[in-house]
Amino acid sequence: MAPMMDDVAKVLLDEATIQAKVRELAARIAEDYAGKELTLVCILKGAVLFAADLLRALPLPVEIDFMAISSYGRGVRTSGVVRILKDLDHSIEGKHVLVVEDIVDSGLTLSYLLETLSSRQPASMKVCVLLDKPERRVVDLTPDYVGFEIPDEFVIGYGLDYAEKYRNLPFIGVLKPEIYAATGE
Ligand code: IMP
Repeated sequence: MAPMMDDVAKVLLDEATIQAKVRELAARIAEDYAGKELTLVCILKGAVLFAADLLRALPLPVEIDFMAISSYGRGVRTSGVVRILKDLDHSIEGKHVLVVEDIVDSGLTLSYLLETLSSRQPASMKVCVLLDKPERRVVDLTPDYVGFEIPDEFVIGYGLDYAEKYRNLPFIGVLKPEIYAATGE
């Protein structure tokens, strides 16, 4: 962990704070979906730790499926072009779908995804994000469940990466700007 810690400017959300929030979100979701069967759609790869923790905290009959989409590549800003790299394994027609995403920034990725998924006729569709950077939104998108609103800083850890690194940090931290400034991305 030590070499990765050198790249962290500060810890924004520690492990205990994240885990308490996951339990709180799971309790709200369990109440809202009582008596229903839920399908979590985890957006790879960033949401994988969040979705796994949320899944095990949900006392409901729940299925999970995965979708991979292109996001920033190795840079820190979205291009607005979203590509499906891996589609869901199963149909969501007639299902209660909860899309689980790590972070909503401009909102471009999620709005594209929601449009695509809603055309498949789910019984209902909601969105749960761990982190929200509302200042950066360029499309009108309000997630149904939000863990934390955060300022406009590039964060890593708990699934979130920079150039595929730091996903294994158990906390969410701010990446030192010189790390990405150095690559010019
Ligand atoms: P959006 O399309 O601008 O809302 O970007 C959403 C995607 O960009 C997320 O799924 C993340 O993969 C990535 N992203 C946005 N902000 C950050 C960040 O601060 N750290 C790591 N990834 C981020």
